[in-house]
Amino acid sequence: PFNLYNKSLLTLKDFSAEEIHYLLDLSAELKAARAEGRETQRLRGKNIVLIFERDSTRTRSSFEVAAFEQGAQVTYIGPSGSHIGYKETIQDAARVLGRMYSGIEYRGASQQNIEALARYAGVPVWNGMTDEEHPLQVLADLLTMREHTSKPLSEVAFAFLGHVGFNMGRSLLLGAAKLGMDIRLGGPKAYWPDERNLDYIRTLALETGARITVTEDLESAVKGCDFIHTDVWLSMGEDTSQWGERIQQLLPYQVNSRAMALTGNPNAKFMHCLPAIANKQTVLGQKLYKEYGLDGAEVVDEVFESEASIVFDQAENRLHTTKAVLVATLSKCL
Ligand code: CP
Repeated sequence: PFNLYNKSLLTLKDFSAEEIHYLLDLSAELKAARAEGRETQRLRGKNIVLIFERDSTRTRSSFEVAAFEQGAQVTYIGPSGSHIGYKETIQDAARVLGRMYSGIEYRGASQQNIEALARYAGVPVWNGMTDEEHPLQVLADLLTMREHTSKPLSEVAFAFLGHVGFNMGRSLLLGAAKLGMDIRLGGPKAYWPDERNLDYIRTLALETGARITVTEDLESAVKGCDFIHTDVWLSMGEDTSQWGERIQQLLPYQVNSRAMALTGNPNAKFMHCLPAIANKQTVLGQKLYKEYGLDGAEVVDEVFESEASIVFDQAENRLHTTKAVLVATLSKCL
């Protein structure tokens, strides 16, 4: 096995393809062990702190359940639950928490903050999502793809549609480029990742054989794909006053029956990292409906609720992949 003991997960840039495959294999093994009632606790006596400067359903739950099931304790610090950023620097918080905890999860806007946290804490730090990266989500997405195809990941083609230049698009690009996959980002040019980021990815792709497409043309993005992936059009920290223009720009990339049919693949699956503003049952969904007459935005119910949708497998896999990362980075006895 690879030695990931004491290693932080800030970005998938820091992990080789072999290390990513190893984490996926470990996730699958831990998932099977849990299902069969033979899970071994490898994190007894460990304490983990979860810093959330922004709210969460999946990331928080996956860390808490993974830690509890592995015998570790957690402390949750919510968006208003500490001095961090208000009257205490991230460097000072890192030096304090690093003396008390075995590892630190961080969710906040700034990738620089999580890098500072890792530099000063002296214990592993895991990225629970910043504006630049969401690596734990991508591990769960890759595991989910692996479970829903008989192909090796290097032969899988998938599209990520809509708001493609933000954390999910960037992190999926990284994961796909590392593993030599065929990834297509489909969205308006104004939302593409910046050129520097794309240059880095294209250079990586030359080494791994990954196929990287960034396009405004929906059909080229989805044709022949095994998976269509999307995310909310309004990301955390963004104001709903920006919605009107964005909806007009992104509506052509909505995942609906037509977009799924354009894959030409009757077995294509739909993925979404969630939460999804899928319908009028949410506060934001009602706002969309009242102000713009839309029932659904980045995806509509006819796809979200269809047989093709594997979004809840993806959500469950957040638990197994997070657990693998905790075990691999905190336990010497793998
Ligand atoms: N996908 C994801 O990160 O979900 P949460 O915001 O609920 O953690």
